[in-house]
Amino acid sequence: MSALTQLPAWQALWDHFADAKHHHMRDLFDTDPQRAERYALEVGGLFLDYSKNRITDDTLRGLMQLAREAGLPAKLKAMFKGEKINSTENRAVLHVALRNRTNSPILVDGEDVMPKVNSVLARMGKFCHAIRSGEWLGYTHQPITDVVSIGIGGSDLGPLMVCSALKPFGHPRMNMHFVSNVDGAQLKETLKKVHPETTLFIVESKTFTTQETLTNALTAREWFVARARDEKAVAKHFVAVSTNKKAVAEFGIDPANMFEFWDWVGGRYSLWSAIGLPIMLYLGEENFTELLNGAHIMDQHFANASFEQNMPVLLAMIGIWYINYYGGGSHVIAPYDQYLHRLPAFIQQLDMESNGKQTCLDGSPVDFETAPIIWGETGINGQHAFFQLLHQGTHISPIDLICSLQNSSSLPGHHEILLANVFAQAEAFMRGKTAEEVREELAAQGLKGDALETLVPHKVFGGNRPTNTLLMDRLDPRNLGSLIALYEHKIFVQGVIWGINSFDQWGVELGKQLAKTIHAELAGKLDDAPHDSSTKALIRRYRRANAGL
Ligand code: F6P
Repeated sequence: MSALTQLPAWQALWDHFADAKHHHMRDLFDTDPQRAERYALEVGGLFLDYSKNRITDDTLRGLMQLAREAGLPAKLKAMFKGEKINSTENRAVLHVALRNRTNSPILVDGEDVMPKVNSVLARMGKFCHAIRSGEWLGYTHQPITDVVSIGIGGSDLGPLMVCSALKPFGHPRMNMHFVSNVDGAQLKETLKKVHPETTLFIVESKTFTTQETLTNALTAREWFVARARDEKAVAKHFVAVSTNKKAVAEFGIDPANMFEFWDWVGGRYSLWSAIGLPIMLYLGEENFTELLNGAHIMDQHFANASFEQNMPVLLAMIGIWYINYYGGGSHVIAPYDQYLHRLPAFIQQLDMESNGKQTCLDGSPVDFETAPIIWGETGINGQHAFFQLLHQGTHISPIDLICSLQNSSSLPGHHEILLANVFAQAEAFMRGKTAEEVREELAAQGLKGDALETLVPHKVFGGNRPTNTLLMDRLDPRNLGSLIALYEHKIFVQGVIWGINSFDQWGVELGKQLAKTIHAELAGKLDDAPHDSSTKALIRRYRRANAGL
């Protein structure tokens, strides 16, 4: 048995669950008129209504006790203090240092990291100002109009998601493009849209060894040099963001054009570092600082609020309740905001790459479920696609409904419809519709007898389906910063409860390793590598299909 399942609070919650699993939220609301008020919380510009969950005061008490017994208070302090909590890589985990707006010292191996953080931020600011103001000119003395960010995973999704989310704050001259897929189609289509004289390429890679990114960057460089006909022009059009100076230089980007970050910044937690360069270029230094400020507000709240009033802790522990007790293995992110359409993909990496693990910190296997499958889509589109399953399917899948109170599109009439749907969905998921209500409704439509009764079971909604409603005052850099930090800390808390390392990602290595051998085989440079019969047949088929090319 794992350490977690032996905790008294873990067992006490099972005892509570035996009774709690019979509760229906409809009854919980009926018996407590203050429920919505009591189960809500505001942090900065974010408001969380968590009342539409299958929880009672006893559930929350039990969950907070579990958080304490699992050692969350000490782990939280350890992260903020720069201790090497990423034990399999012997690294500190300090995305919080990147937005430590009070500038208080944070030590890693005895060295305060804040001067480095501030100096890179200042360099980024200077560079972005030069590009945005038109002072930085390309090789034909024209200002930059297009930025192509080349990266993948954490070196792509964060900047892509934030630039999409904050489009109304973007520089009007700047067109942002993101290339991540090694499928040449993405780069090819992007290059069709840009001109070498006015394009800046940012190669984003923590390790600067990632095959997809380096392949795309190399092709982009060749495309550029073929047009500029001058290697020296590269300096005006290519910059790199990395922790690996040597590899950047070997690739052919002058280290003077490199923005640095450090091994204590995890890839999926890196948008606050120099990896956020595309964000700063697009939004400007002030808005980037606001993004950091918003995250800092959430960091301070997370570090100082009592667990009972702590937004990341509440979301995490309520998540644990569903994952480990109800057996709900999936979680939906449904932003009701077109600008947030990449948020589900971003949170998917953040959560699944962090907590998709089955080994405890001490090397023993887990004997409980860990990260849920995170998926989602803009809520309103989801309603017309997969919400059927969420309402009447057999799975329990908690849903985060995320929207902003202020209209960001400024087109009259739209926002009210959007918000009406958010609130209606949350209500429908909670209440459902009883057979009695269905009967009444059908009777009012003139149906009776068998015709009515055959329809009833199909039109019943069980309800009791959990949602969190997250309202932002408005979608701006500060509130987005708080929102992202909220999810980062929620994921951290769940990792602590499960006793796993949320900050490594060994699970992505095996496929990468095998692909190297297979790549050589596809190119005809290697024969007879040991494979199963299926893999061998697939390789043969590819080679046959491409034999004459
Ligand atoms: O393969 C997974 C991963 O290592 C992610 O964790 C990371 O965000 C991504 O690849 C990109 O890595 P890099 O920034 O080193 O190119």
